[in-house]
Amino acid sequence: MAVREVIRMGHPLLLARAEEVENFATPELASLVADMKDTMAALNGAGLAAPQIAVSQRVVIFGVAENPRYPDADSVPETILINPEITVLGSERESAWEGCLSVPHMRGLVPRYTSIRYRGYDVEGNVIEREAHGFHARVVQHEVDHLDGVLYPSRIEDMRNFGFENELFQTTEGAEEEL
Ligand code: NI
Repeated sequence: MAVREVIRMGHPLLLARAEEVENFATPELASLVADMKDTMAALNGAGLAAPQIAVSQRVVIFGVAENPRYPDADSVPETILINPEITVLGSERESAWEGCLSVPHMRGLVPRYTSIRYRGYDVEGNVIEREAHGFHARVVQHEVDHLDGVLYPSRIEDMRNFGFENELFQTTEGAEEEL
């Protein structure tokens, strides 16, 4: 397996709608997911969508282990999610800083729904269905946006809240991990 190059904002594949996965439990799908995991781990990301490694398929991975440095931060289960669909639960949104491996060194303040239900499949084709709140819900919305050709800067409501991480923050504390 391999760490793959992450394409960056400006590449047309990041603006395309990715294709549904039609065949599960294939060597090709296992290989894609393994490369995505290697790439996300190498870059210390909290999430990655297949289009970010120039594969236009509806596959995302995400996960954040509990970090003793941030005991109040939500953990997010390590998940491979294929052909995901999101249902918003309620209209409440909250804004938080996001980063993206395809928009390196930048952060933006992005509103997201606080509670969602999501449904999709694992690599074997088993259904995954969960409710998610807070940061977990944010990560899933960010990754599913990638499958629809949407990057977080287009979700920022006030562009004054967009900039280079080291200009916005004195330390990286408080900034979320890259997705
Ligand atoms: Ni991203």
